[in-house]
Amino acid sequence: MANQIYLFSLIFFSVLLYQSTTILSFQKSLDLAKPCKRFVFHLHNVAYDGDNMDNATSAAIVNPLGLGDFNFGKFVIMDNPVTMDQNYLSKPVARVQGFFFYHGKAKYDTWLSWSVAFNSTQHKGTLNIMGENPFMEPTRDLQVVGGTGDFVMTRGIAMFMTDLVEGNKYFRIKMDIKLYECYY
Ligand SMILES: *[C@@H]1O[C@H](CO)[C@@H](O)[C@H](O)[C@H]1NC(C)=O
Ligand SMILES: *[C@@H]1O[C@H](CO)[C@@H](O)[C@H](O)[C@H]1NC(C)=O
Repeated sequence: MANQIYLFSLIFFSVLLYQSTTILSFQKSLDLAKPCKRFVFHLHNVAYDGDNMDNATSAAIVNPLGLGDFNFGKFVIMDNPVTMDQNYLSKPVARVQGFFFYHGKAKYDTWLSWSVAFNSTQHKGTLNIMGENPFMEPTRDLQVVGGTGDFVMTRGIAMFMTDLVEGNKYFRIKMDIKLYECYY
């Protein structure tokens, strides 16, 4: 009998403890106006066209299949420089490595998975961004799902704005990255 009471109270208090920690974690508030780190960068994408081997930083590895008129199925791999200002020739502060693909049948739409890789005296490590990127919209919010090095275990929001598009050859994106979990 004593054993049963002991067991019962053990379970009872474990459940109570579990619930109180669950409630505490839900109460943690997030102030979107106060990121712990913020970066504003410009990403430059020069598409490979068969003739610009020296300057190209991305290439389509699967071309549109003909399903709809919006490049459905096109798959692009990239290793793009990121600069502090809009000038393509400025010194890169990071690179964005990853891919995106078109998945809109009735409109232009892409999905992406990118690592912002830093290897400078200021920052070492990666920020990983993935998600839906409806690039015809003036601004898009992508989620920062994690990181490594200086950005270990981070999370945040990357707002993308298209700065410039030159046909199929070049585009530039302004990336406004706000991190809400920082350990360094
Ligand atoms: C690469 O870009 C530079 C600067 O824009 C330009 O002068 C050069 O002609 C380009 N080279 C090729 C192969 O496109
Ligand atoms: C980072 O930079 C250092 C110094 O320039 C270089 O030795 C190293 O290979 C670089 N690492 C990566 C992953 O590019």
